[in-house]
Amino acid sequence: MTKENVTVEFTPVETLVLQPTPEHIAVAGERLRAGGLVAFPTETVYGLGGNALDGGASKRIYAAKGRPSDNPLIVHVARIEDFYPLVRDFPKTAQKLAETFLPGPLTMVLPKSDAVPYATTGGLDTVAVRLPSHPVARALIAAAGVPVAAPSANLSGRPSPTRIEHVVADLQGRVDVILGQGDAAVGGLESTIVDLTGDVPVLLRPGFITLEQLRDTLGEVWVDATTESLTPPTEKQPPRAPGMKYRHYAPRAPLTLYAGDPARVANAIQAAVDAARRENLRTGVLCAAERAALYTADVVLPLGDAANPEQLAESLFAALRTLDQQGVERAFSEAFFGDGVYRAVMNRLVKAAGYNLINVV
Ligand code: TXA
Ligand code: MG
Repeated sequence: MTKENVTVEFTPVETLVLQPTPEHIAVAGERLRAGGLVAFPTETVYGLGGNALDGGASKRIYAAKGRPSDNPLIVHVARIEDFYPLVRDFPKTAQKLAETFLPGPLTMVLPKSDAVPYATTGGLDTVAVRLPSHPVARALIAAAGVPVAAPSANLSGRPSPTRIEHVVADLQGRVDVILGQGDAAVGGLESTIVDLTGDVPVLLRPGFITLEQLRDTLGEVWVDATTESLTPPTEKQPPRAPGMKYRHYAPRAPLTLYAGDPARVANAIQAAVDAARRENLRTGVLCAAERAALYTADVVLPLGDAANPEQLAESLFAALRTLDQQGVERAFSEAFFGDGVYRAVMNRLVKAAGYNLINVV
């Protein structure tokens, strides 16, 4: 790590945890405008927001997350027209995507305007912009009256928060306000990121808006080589979304993925669980709901129907946190390869496992 991207210490603050009533949203918006930090739900994961035009607020976001400051932030707005002052160019591709998918879980990387400080973009000349569909997110951004820079509301390295208790666990005492949405989980995985600064759009991070949908709308779309790689990124070929190079989502226990025929995978995982238990290690398994009964481990966490990647997506990050809460020391998961949202699920699972994947033959 170079000197520039060493994270600064945060100053402890008193955190208000509030239900998203109109009054509370107004209070939170006021805090954002005044340079404060507010965590809020979106349709993907909870975000940790600050005024995107205030470099000081962005620095406080990095400090609160314990995040290296060369990892750029996504700037959230409440209306399409609020994108324009943030970017030097809003190309046809961006217009098409905005018409087709926004508001929604899609982030576009565009050349930044001078209005956006380098503290927000991690020193890059591009800016990632997003118009979320979640009503609380939109009301909050509108109340703030400024674009809101927001990374996921987790401590750096931990799984992104999909429930308010995850946000409270990570950020209590580090942000001014945490806005909840009751007990409901949000969508589950972070937005799709597409880079529109080159001749051909490039998918940097898969999400609920799928590669197939992007290609239907834009024609040719490339995939950044690191997003679907089953081996770790190298210095020679770093990911184009700088955040994707950091250790991410990982539970404390080493996690191993198993790919292949489901019945053989179940046998291989159970054998690995049995071996770990003989060493007196606490074991956890992440699996399709229909296969949960095949496993005997200390903690078995069904993620959802294997045929329903949205369900897998919704429960994945919460399950990774449950492994930690349950004191699991060795974790094992089935792999879920496929098109569409499966790409997003596997992208996160592979990172959570630190690229530790076994092909069962
Ligand atoms: O769904 C989401 O996008 C959530 C919610 C809160 O909106 N936010 C989120 O932010 O996931 P974060 O900071 O956890 O992830 C942002 C990703 C990082 O991988 C970062 O490197 C990439 O976006 N990114 C941001 N600006 C970029 C830029 N100018 N060029 C390339 N990648 C960029
Ligand atoms: Mg994140």
